[in-house]
Amino acid sequence: MSTGLVIGLIYRNETTKAQFGQIVTGLKAGFVALPYTLNGSLVTKVHESGCHAVIVEGNDEGEQDSSHIEALISELPDIPVYAAFREPGVDVIRRLMRVGARDVIPIPPSEEDLKRELSRLKTGLGPDVDARKGRIISVINSKSGSGATTIAVNIACDIAAMDEDLKVALIDLDIQFGSVSLYLDVKWQANVMDALGQASRLDKTMFNAMMSRHDSGLYALPAPNKITRLDRVSSADVKKFLDVVKQTFDVVVLDLPKAINDWNEEILKASDSIYVVIQRSLAVLRDARLLMSYFHSVGIDDSDITIVDNRYRSKHSTVTDKQIYDTLKIENMVRIANDYDAVMGSQDHGMPLSKHAKHSRISKDIHQISENILEELTGEKREQAGLLGRLIGRH
Ligand SMILES: Nc1ncnc2c1ncn2[C@@H]1O[C@H](COP(=O)(O)OP(=O)(O)O)[C@@H](O)[C@H]1O
Ligand SMILES: [Mg+2]
Repeated sequence: MSTGLVIGLIYRNETTKAQFGQIVTGLKAGFVALPYTLNGSLVTKVHESGCHAVIVEGNDEGEQDSSHIEALISELPDIPVYAAFREPGVDVIRRLMRVGARDVIPIPPSEEDLKRELSRLKTGLGPDVDARKGRIISVINSKSGSGATTIAVNIACDIAAMDEDLKVALIDLDIQFGSVSLYLDVKWQANVMDALGQASRLDKTMFNAMMSRHDSGLYALPAPNKITRLDRVSSADVKKFLDVVKQTFDVVVLDLPKAINDWNEEILKASDSIYVVIQRSLAVLRDARLLMSYFHSVGIDDSDITIVDNRYRSKHSTVTDKQIYDTLKIENMVRIANDYDAVMGSQDHGMPLSKHAKHSRISKDIHQISENILEELTGEKREQAGLLGRLIGRH
């Protein structure tokens, strides 16, 4: 089984690359080799490839020079950086440890040393590197106005309010027509383009400062309030952005634009779950089918997709359950009741449905989706809230 770890090596010699590559891959960790000649783009490359630690080969010619490694340590504050030298001298070891190197590894590396470091790294990162942190939940509509934003906002608020130990974010990536800011009464600090526009130097501290806190405990980032060209964003920006987002939050709900381009594809592929919001009309269903065949073409698994049958009314439906299944062939489907008054009222007050219309059918339907997400995330069924739940020891 893979360890889930990715180790980067910044190398000078091909032999070093081969030696480390063989051991690291043999220990079932991911291995990314980057030549030190990449210089200025090394830091970006390390982030882009999702490395959990980096080993940097030092300059062994003449006097051992560690300035290159020292610079990288300060540019990669969130990642453990190891130095590697053929015969590391005491001076160089001292200097590197003082500036924060995790350790100095002799070249050629021994399997034993690397094995020990990998298991240390894994313990430091928690029992399962990706299990709890950075779960990406994307919400996309199959036709504009189907209810994607309504659902993204409400499940995000719900999850944040349900488990205060989880750090939950809602990010509006609909950079042209995003409307998260209309649904939540929040004093906004920044918008998503502020983060994407400087993705290469984005880190946890900077990103945290851009997020605005909602009463529910949710951290949110709205879209800009003017139309932004989709080509202002690149997939490299998005990759880096997602890395930081995943490091910073446990659950991330993304409100996506309905646009098919490189960067949106990057997000869809990186998503742990995709909620596709539909309504029961033939035109909406047709677009949903197009979206499904696109998902297949880029290798997105059906099991990651949930169809959200929004504005559901038991009567008056022109489209049946069977028609939806026959057209989309997706097993996971959830229903959300039609309740125009509740949605408009909650929007007008800038508050989530769970607060504005707590006992409504729509609020319960949304809560059920949030429960399912939490259950998947924590692997445990949640007890009913209320007196009984508290009496038997939760909260
Ligand atoms: N379950 C629902 N019941 C009633 N009205 C809804 C429901 N979901 C969405 N709406 C209505 O549809 C409008 C558009 O929803 P929105 O979430 O902005 O769609 P999208 O993000 O898919 O474009 C909302 O302003 C609201 O009036
Ligand atoms: Mg929307």
